[in-house]
Formats: sequence, structure tokens, C-alpha cells
Amino acid sequence: MDEPRRLERYVTELFAVEDSDLAAIRARHAAAALPPINVSPEEGKLLHLLLLTIQATTVLEIGSLGGYSGVWLARALPPGGGKLTTIEKDPRHAKIAREAFASAGLSARVQLIEGAALDVLPTLSPGFDAVFIDADKEPLPQYFEWGVRLLRRGGLLLCDNAFFHGAALDESDRSGAALGVRAFNRLAASDPRIVATVVPVRDGLLVGLKVAQ
Ligand code: SAH
Ligand code: DHB
Ligand code: MG
Repeated sequence: MDEPRRLERYVTELFAVEDSDLAAIRARHAAAALPPINVSPEEGKLLHLLLLTIQATTVLEIGSLGGYSGVWLARALPPGGGKLTTIEKDPRHAKIAREAFASAGLSARVQLIEGAALDVLPTLSPGFDAVFIDADKEPLPQYFEWGVRLLRRGGLLLCDNAFFHGAALDESDRSGAALGVRAFNRLAASDPRIVATVVPVRDGLLVGLKVAQ
């Protein structure tokens, strides 16, 4: 095992141990042949911890897949009042995610909206404590604008795949996805409403704080 993987495993085994609900969700992913692109346990733990630091009660996720990241997010919300809204366009993924939230006892805290993000986002009311973006990459500049608009001041803008397997650094990669990731990162780095950096966990987690409306 190379050194970064060894260090990652150390963190996972000490700080991000999965319980049986999370392990079952990953097993269900594999059984249903969902793409294995869920966040890793240590990235899930980081998302969970970031929500706790701001005492988040309302969180928006774009891209549910099978509910794995959603469980890490929803578990950071207060059982009485918190709510995760998660958007998923693939009906098969949405069904599996709903089952995951139910089996983890989180259905009361999670609203899954089935649809394409750019159709759903205009229907949501602003004021979210955190927005986690983890769907298709080409529209990322639009997701940036929606994310910032829907966040309260002091809220967290979180975006997976900031490195996009190195394509973020490779200007010769002109694919729509690579262009989307690079544009998002530049926006997050330069928009005066956001203070951001990238945490080099897995494929890069962009973490931003909305400091101005
Ligand atoms: N956050 C998940 C992984 C998401 S994978 C986890 O870590 O567990 C990306 C998901 O985004 C896929 O399920 C895909 O179907 C969904 N998706 C892709 N494009 C989308 C769009 N335009 N609107 C909503 N969901 C989308
Ligand atoms: C891939 C990984 C992701 O986390 C994602 O959101 C999209 C794609 C990938 O490995 O291709
Ligand atoms: Mg991702």
C-alpha cells in the first residue's frame, strides 16, 4: 500500500469506523451495482464534523446516489428539528437512497426530491446552513451560484471532487466535466462572498464559508 493510502486507512480505522447501517448501505451499493463513487468514510466523517461545528439544522445535498453521504450528513442534525434535503435525478438511485435512510432510522430527518438539480434548485427557499454538491460536474458553475444563493451567511459551501482525479490541474483536459470543476474552484477561490480552500481528502473536498450576502 502506498503511503497516502496507509495514512488514510489509519484515519479511517481510528476516526471513521462504520457502524452496521453504513456498512449495509455500502453492501447494498455493491449488490445493486451502483457506481462506487460515494464519499469515503473519512470524508463522510469530515462532512459530519463540519456540520456539527456550525450546529447545522438545514442541509442541502445535490446528488444522493444510494444515501451513503446523506447518512453521514443527516446524523449531524438534531433529531427533533433538523432536515436534510437531498436531490437525485436517477429514480433507481433515489429508491435505494430512500431505503438507506429508512434502514438507518433517518427518514423523518431526510427529504429526497427526485428530479434534475437545475429544475429543483429554483423551487427551494434560501437559508440553508450547508450545501453539499456532489452530482454531475459540467453544471458546477451554476451549482456554485445556486449554492451561494441558498446558503445563509455563515453557512458552509461543500463540494466533492475538487481534484477530479487530477483533471482540475490539467488545462489540456477540455471535457465538460473538467471545465466545470476548474470553473467551480476558481469561483470559490475568487468570489468575495466565499472564503474557501480544498481539503485533500480522497478526491478533494472544497470547503467554503459564506461570509457575505
Ligand atoms: N453523494 C453521494 C454520491 C453522489 S454520485 C455519496 O457520496 O454517497 C452522483 C449522483 O448524482 C448520482 O446518483 C447521479 O445520478 C446524480 N446526478 C447526476 N446528475 C444529476 C443532476 N443533474 N441532478 C440530480 N442528480 C444528479
Ligand atoms: C466520480 C467520483 C465522484 O465522487 C463523483 O461525484 C463523480 C465521479 C468518479 O470517480 O468518476
Ligand atoms: Mg463525488
